Amino acid sequence: MPTDPLQAPALARAVVTGAAGFIGSHLVHALLQAGTTVIAVDNRDHTDPAAAANLAPLQGRAGYHPIVADLRTCAIQPLLLDADAVFHLAGIPGVRPSWGAQFSEYVDSNILATQRLMDAATATKAPAWSSPPPPASTA
Ligand SMILES: NC(=O)c1ccc[n+]([C@@H]2O[C@H](COP(=O)([O-])OP(=O)(O)OC[C@H]3O[C@@H](n4cnc5c(N)ncnc54)[C@H](O)[C@@H]3O)[C@@H](O)[C@H]2O)c1
Repeated sequence: MPTDPLQAPALARAVVTGAAGFIGSHLVHALLQAGTTVIAVDNRDHTDPAAAANLAPLQGRAGYHPIVADLRTCAIQPLLLDADAVFHLAGIPGVRPSWGAQFSEYVDSNILATQRLMDAATATKAPAWSSPPPPASTA
């Protein structure tokens, strides 16, 4: 496990997935406050009402680089180049979507996307932290 990023010196460049979400947007804000350049990845943008509210405080901030991408399918390695840390917060939270009509999307966004991200982080040697936890094979 890499060093706790909260105990480390200020990061020069970080990737945050789920950056348009509740936790991700707050983390992006905190990193920008610390002077970190942030590659902010999410499959939603400001056209989504909930994402718009989360993203509003970030627009126009120095060092803020939003990328709209779906981690289930996008090329991930280019997003991670030169990253000092990767914070993986993209996913579908909650229990109810884990069965029924959204099950396939839930599995793909929470497990497949996490596996893809961790594989890319391993390949690029980018230190990565994840919630949800990575699949057992990469934990
Ligand atoms: N909110 C909490 O209290 C809490 C507590 C513990 C753990 N968590 C976990 O932390 C993570 C973030 O939670 P949150 O409350 O910020 O959720 P959120 O729904 O607000 O944010 C998640 C973001 O991930 C994005 N996303 C989902 N699938 C994606 C994909 N395939 N590609 C790119 N982006 C994708 C969504 O568009 C969304 O903006 C989740 O894994 C959640 O389970 C949340």
